[in-house]
Amino acid sequence: MEEKRPVWTSRYTFILAAIGSAVGLGNIWRFPYIMGQYGGAVFLLVYLLLIVTICFIPLFAELTVGKITKKECIGAFESVNPKFKILGFLNPLTGILISSFYFIVGGWIVYYIYISLTNVHIVNYSEYFSDFTQNSIPACICTLTFLFSCIYFTARGVKKGIEFANNVLMPLFAVIMIGLIIFSLQLPNAHLGLEYMFKPDFSKLDSQMFLAALGQALFTLSIGMGALLTYGSYISEDKSIAKTTYTIIFSDTIFALLSGIMIFPAIFSFGLEPNSGAGLVFVTLPHIFSQIPYGNVVSCAFFILLLAAAVTSGISILEVPVASISERLKMTRAKACYWVFLVIAAIAIPATLSFGALSEFKILNKSIFDFLDFSTSNVLMPLNAFFICIVAGWFLKIKGEMFIKNKYIAKLFDFGLKFAAPFVLLFLLIIGLN
Ligand code: TRP
Repeated sequence: MEEKRPVWTSRYTFILAAIGSAVGLGNIWRFPYIMGQYGGAVFLLVYLLLIVTICFIPLFAELTVGKITKKECIGAFESVNPKFKILGFLNPLTGILISSFYFIVGGWIVYYIYISLTNVHIVNYSEYFSDFTQNSIPACICTLTFLFSCIYFTARGVKKGIEFANNVLMPLFAVIMIGLIIFSLQLPNAHLGLEYMFKPDFSKLDSQMFLAALGQALFTLSIGMGALLTYGSYISEDKSIAKTTYTIIFSDTIFALLSGIMIFPAIFSFGLEPNSGAGLVFVTLPHIFSQIPYGNVVSCAFFILLLAAAVTSGISILEVPVASISERLKMTRAKACYWVFLVIAAIAIPATLSFGALSEFKILNKSIFDFLDFSTSNVLMPLNAFFICIVAGWFLKIKGEMFIKNKYIAKLFDFGLKFAAPFVLLFLLIIGLN
C-alpha cells in the first residue's frame, strides 16, 4: 500500500528536527574527547574555521537537493540523472552502517542510566566500563533497547514520531544542559577548564588535526548520509533555506561549545586529564560523579541528556533507509521500519560483540566496531558529501537558492560548491584512507 509523502507541520518543526539530528553524541561524547586529544583551544579554532569555510556548503547542498527534488535519497539522485542512482544508494547504505555503531554507544548510555538509577557501587571505572562492553548479553540488550526506542519514533511517522520526539526531547536536553553547566562552573578551579577550551596553544597545531576537525565537523553536522536531504524533502514551502543552514550550524556549534563548558571545568577541577579518548564520558565523568554529593542524581541527569540527544539523531539516521525502502518499494513505513530494524540488528549485534566474544574477528585489521566507524567517518561520509556538492553544483545548479545579493559573494559561493568543497572532501578522503 502506498502512503502519502509526509511534510513538516511548520518551518519551526523542521528546523528543530534538523537541529535534533545535528546535536547528538557527536557534540557531547565525540567533540570533547577529540578536542581533548588534539590539545583544546587550537583544535576548536581549526574546527570553527573549517565549518565556516567548507562544511556549510555540503550541508546547504543536501537540504536544497532534498527540497527541490522532494524525494528520498535514491530518487533524488535519480531525478537529477538516472545514472546517479547508484550514488543515491550509498546514502541509506552509509546510514545502516553508521547506525550499527551509533546505536552501540546509545546502548552504553542506556546502561549508564540504569547504573545511575540503581546506584551501583563501582571501584575502578575504567575496568567497569571495559567489563561491561565485553559482557555480551547485557551489551546486546542495551544496543537493541536503544535501537528499538529510536525506530519506535521513526515508525510513527514524521509528525507523530519525529516531530513529537524532537518537541519533547530537545527542550529537555537544553534544560538539563543549562543545569549541568551551572553546576560545573561552580566547582573549584573551573576556570582551568575554560582556559583549556579558549586559550590556544599554537605549538600543538599539526596536519592530523585538520583531518580530525573536518571528520568531526561532517559527523556533528549530520553531513554525508542523506539525513538532511531526506529531512529537506519534507519541506512543503518554497522559501530559501540559506538561513536555516546557518541556524543549524550555529546551534550545533553552540551545543558543542556548551558541552565542552559542561565537561572540561569538571575534569580540571578534579585534576584529571582531558585526553582519555572515547572513555571520557563513560570513565572519567562517572569517576567525577562518584566523588560529588548527589553524584548519582547528576550522573542520571547527564546520561538522560545524552540519551535525549542521541535519540533525536538516531531517528534521523534511521529515516534515510526507512524513507528509501518505503518509497521505492511502496511499503508502509511500519513495514520498512521492521526490515531496517532487522538489518541494523544483524550488523549491530556482531559489532557489539566485537568488544567481547568476537574481539578476535578482524576486518582489514580492525575490530567490527572500529571498521564501521572508520568506513563511515573516513570513507563513506566524505565521499557522499563530495557527490552531493558535485551534483548540486554542476548538475542542479543550486547557486540561486542561496539568494546572495552581492555578485562577488555569489561567485565565491559557487566556486566553493563546485571546486573548493569537493576538493577538500576528496583530499580528506584520500588522506583518511592511509
Ligand atoms: N550529527 C549527529 C551527532 O552529532 C550524528 C548523526 C545524525 C549523523 N545523523 C547523521 C552523522 C548523518 C552523519 C550523518 O551525533
